[in-house]
Parts: sequence; C-alpha cells; structure tokens
Amino acid sequence: MTEQNNNQLAFFNGKYMPITEVAISPFDRGFLFGDSLYEVIPVYNGKMLGGDLHLQRLLNGLTAIGIISPYTLSDWRAISRTVLTTREAAQMLYIQVTRGVEASRKHRFPVVSEPTVLIFATPFTPTVTMEYHGCAATLQPDKRWQNCHIKATSLLANVLAYQQLYCNDLAENEALFVRDGVVVEAASSNLFMVKDNLIYTPPVDNILPGITRHIILQIAEKLNYQVYELAPSPAMLKNADEVWVSNSIEELKPVISIDGQIIGSGVPGKVWQELFQHYQHKKG
Ligand SMILES: Cc1ncc(COP(=O)(O)O)c(C=O)c1O
Repeated sequence: MTEQNNNQLAFFNGKYMPITEVAISPFDRGFLFGDSLYEVIPVYNGKMLGGDLHLQRLLNGLTAIGIISPYTLSDWRAISRTVLTTREAAQMLYIQVTRGVEASRKHRFPVVSEPTVLIFATPFTPTVTMEYHGCAATLQPDKRWQNCHIKATSLLANVLAYQQLYCNDLAENEALFVRDGVVVEAASSNLFMVKDNLIYTPPVDNILPGITRHIILQIAEKLNYQVYELAPSPAMLKNADEVWVSNSIEELKPVISIDGQIIGSGVPGKVWQELFQHYQHKKG
C-alpha cells in the first residue's frame, strides 16, 4: 500500500480506523461465498452524487437477500460523510456489507452473526471528458445469474467477461451482454442507444438499476427526449446512431464500434454531448 493509503480512513464494523488496521475474518461469508453486497458512490469535491439513491439501493439489496441493515438511511449517510475526510476533486466511496462470520462454513444463513460493514474512499480521475474519443465494444453471451438487480460482490461472470477481452488484446473494450437474443447490459454499466433522436435503454429486468442510468433518464426527460425502455437486438444496436454505457465512475461513455462495426459516424454523438454536459452540472 502507498503512503497515502496508510493514512486512509475506513469505517469497519462500527469503528473508524486507518484502512491498514481493517482485519477481515477468514470465516467471513463475503470472503468464503461472495455472500455480500457493495455500493460505489461517486463523490465530487466532497459531495456525493446520487448518494441517497445509492444508499437506498443498498438497503433494498440487503432486504432482498435477508440481511437486516445495521443502520438506517440517515446513519449510512452520516457514516459515509465521516469517512470522506478529504476533498479531492473526485473520489469513489466503496461500501461492502457481508452476512458476517460463521466458522462452520454452512451455506444456510449463520445462526448468530452480525453483518460485516466496510466503507472507505479512494480518489479517481474521471476518464471520460468532452474530448473523449469513444471506446469499442464486443458482444458476449450473458452468463450471469438471474438476480442481476442485486449488487452482489459475486462478480465472477463479469470478471471472466473482461478477462476474455483482455486475452484477445481487447482490454479497453466494453463487454455487452446478450441474453435471449437482445443486448441487456454491459459488464459493469448500463446500456443506451439513440436512433433518429429517440433514446432506448433496456428495461430494469434482471439488470442492475444503475443510479447513473436513473440520473441520465431524468436529464433526458427534462430535455424532452423521448425514451423507450427496450432491449435492442444486436442488429438494432449496431445500426444505432449513438451507443453509450453508464456507470458511476465512467459516467456516460460513448461506444463507437461494436464487434468491429462502426456506430453512426464513428465519433461520440450530439445527444451524448448534450446529456454528458448536463450530467457534469449535477456534480455541483
Ligand atoms: C453490471 C452493472 N450494470 C450497471 C452498473 C451501473 O450502476 P451505477 O450507475 O449505479 O454505477 C454497474 C456498476 O457497477 C454494473 O456493475
């Protein structure tokens, strides 16, 4: 770990401490089974963007998998703010909650256990700016489970999708997941396309309800764009005028080719420019 990381403040199981003092049990179910959830909240100049939406998604996820949240929404908000001691231009606040510790390694829920909670923040440099040239993408079969609306840390299918790109010398590409003949999501972001000035995005049906997606849809509505919640076929997507992917760290990222086929005119489009610019104003 670097010098800076040594001094980094973390919140771990009810206490604030330097991140280097965090000690996670080998019997923690997050470690053993991936029995845990996470959140990544973007923070600009010390202010969370969509903070409550992220924290509410965490609470919804905990309920969905039967973990009783140790904190209320306002507790989570207060703890998160305390961890944000520095004022870098951009940080990502990471939260992980596991089902806790039980040495028996039984798959059923532990008989007695407290959730493990870890929160820390790391600085990042936004990679997508108005000057961004766009990225390439590759279609891949969606091999994930059927509860993709839950932000679980068990991300093996997503890891393998990225590794496949890496092994094919396509490390900078996005993996776009095809399920039942339509493109539903990217491996770590939501999907959008534009055709004839209409915006399309797959419905929240076994995909993560992205907070960036939500904010982009709010902006699009305010700008009077017509939006259709529809998952495009690969052919429809490749024939789009614009394709973007969205997540909290890369914000809204234009895709300029898919499987080698150029999208639109092969540069980030006008609708992207407008929405991306409005998204920047949300950073406060
Ligand atoms: C599979 C997947 N879809 C969508 C998203 C975007 O979610 P958000 O905008 O809340 O970061 C992510 C973010 O990690 C993701 O992993």
